[in-house]
Amino acid sequence: MSNYHIKQFEEYFQVYRKSVRNPEQFWEEIAEEHFVWRKKWDNVLSWDFKKPEVKWFEGAKLNITENCLDRHLPTRGDKTAILFEPNNPNEDAEHITYKQLYARVCKFANVLKEKGIQKGDRVCIYLPMIPELAISILACARIGAVHSVVFAGFSATALSSRINDCDAKMVITSDGSYRGPKTIDLKGIVDEALNDIPGIQSVLVAKRINSNINMKAGRDYWLDPLLEEAYSDCNAELMDAEDPLFILYTSGSTGKPKGMVHSSAGYMVYTAYTFKNVFQYRDNDVYWCTADIGWITGHSYIVYGPLANGATTVMFEGVPSYPDFGRFWDIVEKHKVTQFYTAPTAIRALAKQGTEHVEKYDLSSLKVLGTVGEPINEEAWHWYDENIGKKKSPIVDTWWQTETGGIMITPIPFSTPTKPTYATLPFIGIQPALMDESGNEINGNQVEGRLCIKFPWPSIARTIWGNHQRYKDTYFSAYDNMYFTGDGALRDEVGYYRITGRVDDVIIVSGHNLGTAPIEDAINEHPAVAESAIVGFPHDVKGNALYGYVTLKDSGEGRNHDNLRKEINQLITDRIGPIAKLDKIQFTVGLPKTRSGKIMRRILRKIACNETDQLGDTSTLLNPEVVDDIIKNVV
Ligand code: PRX
Repeated sequence: MSNYHIKQFEEYFQVYRKSVRNPEQFWEEIAEEHFVWRKKWDNVLSWDFKKPEVKWFEGAKLNITENCLDRHLPTRGDKTAILFEPNNPNEDAEHITYKQLYARVCKFANVLKEKGIQKGDRVCIYLPMIPELAISILACARIGAVHSVVFAGFSATALSSRINDCDAKMVITSDGSYRGPKTIDLKGIVDEALNDIPGIQSVLVAKRINSNINMKAGRDYWLDPLLEEAYSDCNAELMDAEDPLFILYTSGSTGKPKGMVHSSAGYMVYTAYTFKNVFQYRDNDVYWCTADIGWITGHSYIVYGPLANGATTVMFEGVPSYPDFGRFWDIVEKHKVTQFYTAPTAIRALAKQGTEHVEKYDLSSLKVLGTVGEPINEEAWHWYDENIGKKKSPIVDTWWQTETGGIMITPIPFSTPTKPTYATLPFIGIQPALMDESGNEINGNQVEGRLCIKFPWPSIARTIWGNHQRYKDTYFSAYDNMYFTGDGALRDEVGYYRITGRVDDVIIVSGHNLGTAPIEDAINEHPAVAESAIVGFPHDVKGNALYGYVTLKDSGEGRNHDNLRKEINQLITDRIGPIAKLDKIQFTVGLPKTRSGKIMRRILRKIACNETDQLGDTSTLLNPEVVDDIIKNVV
C-alpha cells in the first residue's frame, strides 16, 4: 500500500525518508494507486535543473477531469462537489453535486468546441467567484485547452497584456460581478482590454448581475442559451502527462508578469496528495478555502486538489466584511465547515474588529485551520488559534508559490507539533536547502539563508510561457542545480523552517505578489514624473504596504502634491489594479544611486521602515546628498 494518507508524526518521517530516498518509486506508487490513467507512464521522472527540464510520468495518458469528475460518479454522484455561497447572504447557497458538475462541465466543454476551441488553444478566463469559473476551468481541461485565469480585480491593461502574452483565442467573462455592496462592470473591462486585440475570436458571457451591457455582434455570446443547447456528455481529450494544463501569471521582480505553465499529470498527483494530507480531508468534511480562483491557491486548493479527492469544496463569491465582519464565521456555521484555509491578511483584518463578530457563531465544526500567501505574525497566529480554532484546531501555515503548484513546507495537522510563524517541515518529497550568498549550502540547524529546493517535485512549473530562458534565469541560475524560490528562510534548532520574506524586488501586499517594476512603469507614465522607486514597509493588516519615492520633472515647482498623489494612484489602478495602489508617496529631489546608476532600494527600504540608523555607508553613492533630504521629508 502506498502512503496516501499520513496520520501520525512518526509516519510522516518514515514516508518522508522513503520519498527522498527513492522519489521515483514513491511517486509511482502514489500515482498508480490513487488516480485513473488511460495509459501508464514509460518513465516516472527525468530531470535536469541545468537545462532546465523536468518531466514526470512521461508517456502516460490521462485527463485530469476524469480524475476530478467521472471516477466519482459511481460512488459520490450525489455528493456536493461545489458548494457555492453567494455574495448576498439572503441568496440561497447552491449545492452542485458531482453528477451535476459533470454535466455542466461537459456542456461547457461542448460550447467551447462549438466555438472552435481545440486542444492546445489558450482560453482566458476573467470571471468572479461564481460556479462558472470552476466549471470553465474544468471544461478547458476536458478538451485539452490551456486555461489562463486572470484575477477579476486586474485592470483592462493587465488583462490585455496577459491575453496577448499567451495569445488566447477566447475570453470567458460575465456581465459583471458583486463585491460586497458594490457591482463591478467586468464586461466593460473586457471590452476595453480587447480594444487592442482584434485576434480574439469569441467572448462568452455569463449572466450574473443582469446589467445592461454591450454585446459585440459576431464576437460576444451569452453563455446560457449556448449551454442549454449543448450535450451533457463530452469525451475527455486524451492528454500526455506533460501537456500543459494551464498558464497562470505571477509578478516578477522585473519585466512583465511571468506565465507559469503547469503540467497535467504531475500537477494532478501533487495537488491531490497534498490536499488530502495537509487538510486531513475525510469523506464527509466540508472544506473551504477563501482564496480567489484567480490565484494559484484557488486553482490547486479550491478546484483541482479537492475535486481529485472527491471532496466538497466551498466557493465564496463575496468579501469578509459584507454584510458585516462576521460573514466568514456565518458561513462556517451555516455549512458546518471542517477545514478553513485563508490568508494572514484576512485574519489580521478580522482580528482588528475584535471578537464580537466571532462569538455570535458556532464554529465547533472546524477541525483544521490553514494560512497561506505571506508570513503570519505571532499575534495573528494566536488570535486565529484562540478565537477561531479555540485552541483545538491545528493551524497549518503552508508555504508555497505559483511556481511550485502545490504546498511545499507545512505541518501535517494532528501530527506535526505547530509553532507560531513557522511553516515547520518540508512536505513529503520536498528537499529544501538554505544557501548563503556565495552559493554554498548552509548545513545544520539555527541558520538562515536563501531558500532553494534541491530535487524536482511533481507539480513544479515546467516553464514560463514563451520564454524558457527567463525561466532558467529566474529560478535556476542563482544557484547551481537548485530551484531558487526568491524567499529567505531560517531553520530553527529542531529543523523547522520559518519563511522570512522575499529577498528580491517582489513585495507581498495582502498576500498578493507585486513586482516593483510594473508599478514603477505605471507611475513613470505620469507626465510630471521623472523617475520612481517602490519599496515595501510593514503594515498591520496588509503585512506590507507600498511606499513610493517619486522624483518630479522640473522639481515639480508649483504642483499640488495631493492631486499628484491621486493621479499616480489612479494610473496604477488603471494599469494594474487597485491592489497595487501606494499607501505613501514621497516626492524627492532625487533617488539614491550607485555609481553605475542603479537605484539603491535597500536604502529606500530602510528609510520607509524607519530604520535610518541601519543605512550603512552611503558615501560611495553617486549622490549621497539626496539621502539626508529624503530622510528629512519622509511621509
Ligand atoms: O514569499 C512567499 C509568500 O508568497 C510567495 C508566493 O506567492 P504566490 O506565487 O502568489 O503564491 C501565493 C500562494 C501560494 C512566496 O514566495 N508565501 C506564500 N506562503 C507563505 C509565504 N510566506 C510566508 N509564509 C507562507 N506560508
